Amino acid sequence: MAIDWANFGVDLHLELAASAGRRTALEEALREAIRSGRLAPETRLPATRTLAAELGLARGTVSAAYDQLIAEGYLTARQGSFTTVASLAATTSPVSVEPASTGTPRYDLRPGSPDVSTFPVAAWIRAVRRALSRAPSAAFDYGDPRGSLALRTVLAEYLGRARGVLASPDRIVVTSGYVQALSLLATVYKGRTFGLEDPGLDFHREVVRAAGTAVVPVSVDSLGARLPIPGADAVVLTPAHQYPMGVTLHPERRRTAVEWARSGDRLIIEDDYDGEFRYDRQPVGALQGTAPDHVVYIGTAAKTLSPALRLAWMVLPAYLVEPVVRLKRLTDLHTEIVGQLALADLISEHAYDRHIRAGRLRYRRRRDELVARLPGADLGGIAAGLHVVLRLPAGVTEREVLAAAAARGLAIGALGTHWHSPGAHPQGLVLGYGTPRDGVYSAALDTLARLLRGF
Ligand SMILES: Cc1ncc(COP(=O)(O)O)c(C=O)c1O
Repeated sequence: MAIDWANFGVDLHLELAASAGRRTALEEALREAIRSGRLAPETRLPATRTLAAELGLARGTVSAAYDQLIAEGYLTARQGSFTTVASLAATTSPVSVEPASTGTPRYDLRPGSPDVSTFPVAAWIRAVRRALSRAPSAAFDYGDPRGSLALRTVLAEYLGRARGVLASPDRIVVTSGYVQALSLLATVYKGRTFGLEDPGLDFHREVVRAAGTAVVPVSVDSLGARLPIPGADAVVLTPAHQYPMGVTLHPERRRTAVEWARSGDRLIIEDDYDGEFRYDRQPVGALQGTAPDHVVYIGTAAKTLSPALRLAWMVLPAYLVEPVVRLKRLTDLHTEIVGQLALADLISEHAYDRHIRAGRLRYRRRRDELVARLPGADLGGIAAGLHVVLRLPAGVTEREVLAAAAARGLAIGALGTHWHSPGAHPQGLVLGYGTPRDGVYSAALDTLARLLRGF
């Protein structure tokens, strides 16, 4: 769509904030216009000279702003031609499970999201087309609260093969993300007590409490979660890659956890949020495979494909199938069908495996680059997943590093909100290397490395 750039400032209400420097203000105004969709993908930007004249800026200021937005992936420079709005620019705003921050950072190294620009759009379109043309018309009627049988069948095979999970389709319930699976289980256990790892994701503590279930902390050391937990009826663990510390649950601790569950008819909830991404060896098999009657396994497409799909799956012990299915039906009847059918197709055509393998290579390279750029940093959890923990040197606080990072337009996570209670805790950063697109990742690391040299 052509835009009449002679009226640029008027049509687009491109107002430069008076409080910021002129270049920063122009960058932010353009970012905002692109993110909000007011500047559509493929739109040609005016020549730097024209825009500089329109806005009363130096031409160099406009050029520098364009260069910055090209580096960030908002704009594309066409050789010998105009600068245009990049086609995927509107999708770059990060969805983060970290507490909301004000404004959009220039660089985002917060944990929580994969590189969503790598979502396999073409493969997904093919999968949707194939799945819908093959589906019987009954697939478009109200369905089983457990989810599509086609998806549950391929998931049972995939989870057994890739994650060592013992699953049959009748024990699988497809949910709207991990968070719904956790919420349903906490509702089944209403009035009782869940142990949650400390540190762990504060959002998940809120989810459990909102369902009317009490939360007690499960401390984490270099071997993973420390069990047993007196007074808990169930425990939520991240055995493959503890969130956020990144340790793998030690085999001895895995045994202790299973014995604890068996001896008191208690439940282990296994959150396998990034178990597919392991870099030093084969992914660690699921705990569920060793005690399927005492462990609920939960996997999600949030890291492997996209958090926005809201697709996850749980594999339940037999006794939990009826209460969970009943609650799922009362909550939303079942998860929407098109995404389920597309995912079933993607898995059965092995496009899901290929996408994960490609992701593993990409994230491994990013992990390597991060480690190389921070020589001497005390890093933990580097063997797997999409984030690392950087333990800060004595005397340096999370608060001061976060403030200095924000001043450079860099968003990073910290351990702070992950602890169950406030107080004196080890100070550390949680650095997600999944979120930035390839084009800006190195620049984000440059900013981080420079920042940390100051501490
Ligand atoms: C620890 C942990 N578990 C699970 C998930 C996935 O949650 P969902 O499937 O609801 O997006 C995340 C996502 O960031 C996570 O950090």
